[in-house]
Amino acid sequence: MKKNIADIDVKGKRVLMRVDFNVPLDDARRITDDSRITGALPSIKYVIENGGKLILMSHLGRPKGEVTPEFSMAPVAERLSELLKMNVKKADDCIGEDVQDMVSQMKNGEVILLENLRFHKEEEKNNPEFAKKLASLGDVFVMDAFGTCHRAHASTEGVTRYLPSVAGFLVEKEIEYFEKVTKDPERPVSLILGGAKVEDKIPVIENMLPKIDFLLIGGAMAYTFLKSRMKGIGASRVEDGMLQTVSKIFELASVHKVGIFLPKDHVVAKEVSATAKSKVVKEHIPDGWIGLDIGPETVASFKEVLKDSKTIIWNGPLGLFEMKPFSAGTKEIAKFLSKLKATTVIGGGDTAAAIYQMGLDKNMSHISTGGGASLEYLEGKVLPGVAALNDK
Ligand code: 3PG
Repeated sequence: MKKNIADIDVKGKRVLMRVDFNVPLDDARRITDDSRITGALPSIKYVIENGGKLILMSHLGRPKGEVTPEFSMAPVAERLSELLKMNVKKADDCIGEDVQDMVSQMKNGEVILLENLRFHKEEEKNNPEFAKKLASLGDVFVMDAFGTCHRAHASTEGVTRYLPSVAGFLVEKEIEYFEKVTKDPERPVSLILGGAKVEDKIPVIENMLPKIDFLLIGGAMAYTFLKSRMKGIGASRVEDGMLQTVSKIFELASVHKVGIFLPKDHVVAKEVSATAKSKVVKEHIPDGWIGLDIGPETVASFKEVLKDSKTIIWNGPLGLFEMKPFSAGTKEIAKFLSKLKATTVIGGGDTAAAIYQMGLDKNMSHISTGGGASLEYLEGKVLPGVAALNDK
């Protein structure tokens, strides 16, 4: 149990808060999904309403220690100002004299957003001097960047060595859901995995098998599983190097009495293109055809498993969701989940984006703001950004 922001008095204090405002931007640098910003609003509003001086810091993209204007936090400051209906000033840097001056002139209830932390290479190196400079801007540190809790960087772990450090409401909510579903989930538990790479999901499967009842697999990763079961997969994406690992997963699943459900039919095309001719095939995919989504029979069989599950964890789209002809599987399962009473926890990244795009976010128990962080939690790893916070 970590201390949280409600355990400290913020009045008149400089509250240095790490948020994950690493939001997607289009070519015109407009924010295309602001869920990471709205996710941090409860903590932000708490500090404002309780008379703290709020200094927000985040990374955006991967500028690798270079000042890169396209990764400036400016569009984020603008969106946050709109959401809060107040002026959020953006600093030109995240350390240095000008920033110190800006902070020293702050009044209670004001908000400043520092410039991209990753414009300094010291951030990702967790450089102690850099962490100390960041820490000097605050009296207390609040960690509300769940999406970055798996990184031991200066702004996530380094600063905690110099300041009292507590969790924000978003981090607390994420931990609460992930602890519940990874440690003590209400059974039966279904884990739905999709997305492209098998390799990324193996540690999750290994950690979760003893805690789940059903494992449902879709997305491109399913074809490696199908190949290891001697099914014809045509020209679908396959990771041959993972075939042995996948065979071991089947063995492990039988030890833990977990039912593995793989696609029974597929939406296939001869090329990966939204305009390519597509069709549904059963069982084996013919030569030259690529599996790009789960078919209707698979959707029906997945629904049959999910309808009685009390806990459902989902990470990774079940088809090539970005292209309309291959989006039905993900959409159908998302719609079905939105009507269930089960605890539904959706991993961040592409799966979360699909749910928001469909407007079903309010119907899920929890949609994580973390991509890599939520995967590492499901892998059973300790997240350094969480571990470094003060205990209750
Ligand atoms: C994410 O988008 O997963 C987080 O913001 C972390 O970003 P990173 O993978 O560049 O560290």
